[in-house]
Amino acid sequence: MNLQINSQSYQVTSDGDTPLLWIIRDELGLTGTKYGCGLAQCGACSVLVDGEVVRSCVTPLDSVVGRQITTIEAIENDPVGKRVVTAWVKHQVPQCGYCQSGQVVAATALLKETPNPSDEEIAAAMINLCRCGTYNAIKAAVKDLSSKEGETL
Ligand code: FES
Ligand code: FES
Repeated sequence: MNLQINSQSYQVTSDGDTPLLWIIRDELGLTGTKYGCGLAQCGACSVLVDGEVVRSCVTPLDSVVGRQITTIEAIENDPVGKRVVTAWVKHQVPQCGYCQSGQVVAATALLKETPNPSDEEIAAAMINLCRCGTYNAIKAAVKDLSSKEGETL
């Protein structure tokens, strides 16, 4: 199987029902994407597939063949992703950091689709769990970005 991850091609030989997360972390060594629950509940494993957030722990390999997969390692290659990371630093969002690659991926997808999201849209999109309770900082960073579309923070 050929996978397109972060604009690179990878040949993988695992079964088609293998979770994408296993390949990303264990075969390709892209360990920025985290394993949390393994049950599509927490969002720590979030990556983009053709620009949409997916939970890679429950995404079978054969469903992403021929699609563009983006992990946290390449999120800053996207101008919106770069602004999200800048805002995360400015607002000092991470605590332990474990959930944060998934949070950044989710925020990037939200802001690419909806550059000026309402509070309701932010709440609906930013549903990944954070055991450190960084939710207020996440919201502040996203609101900062949404009010400054196209500007450098
Ligand atoms: S590890 Fe995938 S949603 Fe929790
Ligand atoms: S920053 Fe620790 S789990 Fe979110």
